[in-house]
Amino acid sequence: MGLTVGVDVGGTKIAAGVVDDSGVILARARRESPASDTEAIEECIAELVAELRAEHEIEAVGVGAAGFVDGARSTVLFAPNLAWRDEPLKADLERRIGLPVVIENDANAAAWGEFAYGAGADVDDLLLVTVGTGVGGGLVLDGRLHRGAFGVAAEIGHFRVVPGGRVCGCGNRGCWEQYASGSALVRDAKEQAREGSLMAQDLVDRAGGDIDAITGPLITNAAKDGDVFSIERLATLGQWLGEGIASLAAILDPAAVVIGGGVSEAGELLLDPIRAHFGSNLTGRKYRPSLEIRPATLGNRAGMIGAADLARNP
Ligand code: BGC
Ligand code: NA
Ligand code: ZN
Repeated sequence: MGLTVGVDVGGTKIAAGVVDDSGVILARARRESPASDTEAIEECIAELVAELRAEHEIEAVGVGAAGFVDGARSTVLFAPNLAWRDEPLKADLERRIGLPVVIENDANAAAWGEFAYGAGADVDDLLLVTVGTGVGGGLVLDGRLHRGAFGVAAEIGHFRVVPGGRVCGCGNRGCWEQYASGSALVRDAKEQAREGSLMAQDLVDRAGGDIDAITGPLITNAAKDGDVFSIERLATLGQWLGEGIASLAAILDPAAVVIGGGVSEAGELLLDPIRAHFGSNLTGRKYRPSLEIRPATLGNRAGMIGAADLARNP
């Protein structure tokens, strides 16, 4: 098969790219995600594909969607951070686009991308953790994407880390993504700023004096410039991630854990605390081989590249 389009549908943006059979992106397009409007999301995906198709011969489309995708990879059963409920996305998009469409969970698609062309290319067992609006998981076991009996395996963002904790978009309390996502990072920074933390002043100044204007990239950039408050916020996020990954490693024993998603752009400022807290919480530490925690090498393109590859080899 020739070229395919990979689409990554997240809670904040929709990105699409034309990808060739060696995982190289030839063209890209992106829009803000109309998160609360399912019709608008489909329209947006169709428009992005049409835009890319004007310049390239496309044979199929792969869509990574931030939600629970069924075993047949055609319906989004549920999306904690988007409006999809039992959405027949494959059928709807095939009707709009007129090409074969494969739907996959966004983190699964990213895990597949990193396994096929990125940070997991040298291992057979890989867990990918995406840190963005939510926390996503993708699991490659024995060189195969693990979807589970009903397609919804590796929903790691919703494993409970705090009994009775914060309410999650999924309806439960205390889910990991309420503590370990980019949204949690921003919420935590805003809360401390609102409570009047003097430490937060530089970050608030960067946000033009408006606490509500604090974003993930703003925190990351401030941390990179040495802002202690922002560095500490990333360290707290890294602690939640590292401890959670230690629990997941107890179950899954992957060779590598790859950290992706928007917040992974913080690099070592996030990876160092993840590794430290992983190391001090892993069961049997010192007496078992330790897996590697690595940054996603495809960055935020992993989902797009993975989805495109899954469309090529459905
Ligand atoms: C959703 C997952 C998704 C992840 C990252 C979670 O809230 O439940 O399906 O992969 O966010 O987008
Ligand atoms: Na997943
Ligand atoms: Zn949840």
